[in-house]
Amino acid sequence: TTSQSAITANGKLIVVANRLPFVLKKNEKTNKWERKASAGGLVTAVAPVVIQGNGLWIGWPGVQLDDPNEPIPESDPSDCTPTAGLRSKQVAAVYVEPQIFDSYYNGCCNGTFWPLFHSMPDRAVFSSDTWKAYTVVNNEFADKTINALKSLSKDDVESGTPLVWLHDYHLMLAANTIRNVADTLDLKFKIGFFLHIPFPPWDIFRLFPWADEILQGMLGCDMVGFHIQDYCLNFVECCQRRLGCRVDRKNLLVEHGGRTVRIRPLPIGIPYERFVQMAHKAPKLISTNQQIVLGVDRLDYTKGLVHRLRSFEALLEKHPEHIGKVTMLQISVPSRTDVKEYQDLKEEMDQLVGRINGRFTTPNWSPIRYIFGCVNQNELASFYRDSAVALVTPLRDGMNLVAKEFVACQINPSPGVLIVSPFAGAGEMMHEALICNPYEIDDAAEVIHRALTMPEDERVLRMNCLRRREKENDVNYWMRSFLKAMGTLITEDGEDVQP
Ligand code: F6P
Repeated sequence: TTSQSAITANGKLIVVANRLPFVLKKNEKTNKWERKASAGGLVTAVAPVVIQGNGLWIGWPGVQLDDPNEPIPESDPSDCTPTAGLRSKQVAAVYVEPQIFDSYYNGCCNGTFWPLFHSMPDRAVFSSDTWKAYTVVNNEFADKTINALKSLSKDDVESGTPLVWLHDYHLMLAANTIRNVADTLDLKFKIGFFLHIPFPPWDIFRLFPWADEILQGMLGCDMVGFHIQDYCLNFVECCQRRLGCRVDRKNLLVEHGGRTVRIRPLPIGIPYERFVQMAHKAPKLISTNQQIVLGVDRLDYTKGLVHRLRSFEALLEKHPEHIGKVTMLQISVPSRTDVKEYQDLKEEMDQLVGRINGRFTTPNWSPIRYIFGCVNQNELASFYRDSAVALVTPLRDGMNLVAKEFVACQINPSPGVLIVSPFAGAGEMMHEALICNPYEIDDAAEVIHRALTMPEDERVLRMNCLRRREKENDVNYWMRSFLKAMGTLITEDGEDVQP
């Protein structure tokens, strides 16, 4: 029901995201740029629709190009990832002067919006300089998008209204600019936005000094999507209280500038079948005489890693029967390493792992195995498949795909247990997981104990339900839901589906 080939946009799809679906790397030998594919769910779902409809993906190539007009290389013939078929003419790399890009990305996006939108205002830095850089970069993305709309042929436009799809907190201003300029040029298009992180409650959002501009920027869209209903309601409330818009909470509508903007909960999924297949093929890497409690996260303060390690320590204190038998495997993927908060967290984690291991390690066993680095997809599938427990305990998280990837990989007849935080979007809908408040360290230790000692029949029952839901609501379902909400989905029998 969710096969990728059935998903078609009625009209050219122009995806606009901070990152391109691959990063460019210089080959030291040839001195030429090459693509390095990304494996994320967004790329898996969206890239094929861009490829199939000869659309366009506008974004940052992950490096500062030497020359702004540097052509994007074609993919390597051996590339078998979803972006392999994306021709270089279907990609537009945004070039911004390095200093401005740094101020936009490390400063405003990751130093202000990231903590604020995750309801951690004490970590947010408010600066008019980084905000200025944010507006400059958003205008740059908007310019590229307008150029793309302008260069569409008459046939392109007549065969279906072009669809611009903006992604995430990096680009909250662009829609309004695109709409204003495009209107003066009489360009026909639809425009939608999807936020991949939480949208905070009014009382947090109002702390941002330029809050009006953000709301106006997003309201330049025809439709704005969030993962869950709560984030939609937060946004609607902010529009009403900050801009004085007329709103309809029941139907999630906001009136602005003589238009009605639709707000929709569109929870993202994962490429479920791909993870199942990987789990079947993955090598065995974990020895069977240990129960593994697994954590997989970008090294980010929103992920609750310090709380998680303390809970594991409390487990060993309160239930010493697990000593020697249970090991925590924490994979922390380096992220945003230029930002001080992330550097500080790295220090704190290194020290905490050292302290807990120093306290409990025996000649034959250590409580924590800590990987600071990347693991490949096969290793990941193997860890997901063979772990007894997955600890997905962020302090706040838009959705969290690790929870979903873990259940997809649970193909063993005697499955593991998922523990999830109620403060992640995933915690809202994965009802059969064990719910654990990461702030309650002792209680979290008890939840881990319960997971480690759960009878097999209960584990099977819970995991079957979790897996069924993720299989049905996979990333292709999300892609279809977005196109449907925009009124631009063509079904298998060629019918347009209205929102
Ligand atoms: O979850 C939000 C998000 O921006 C994702 O889209 C992205 O994969 C992740 O955070 C990592 O972010 P960055 O692009 O800053 O490395």
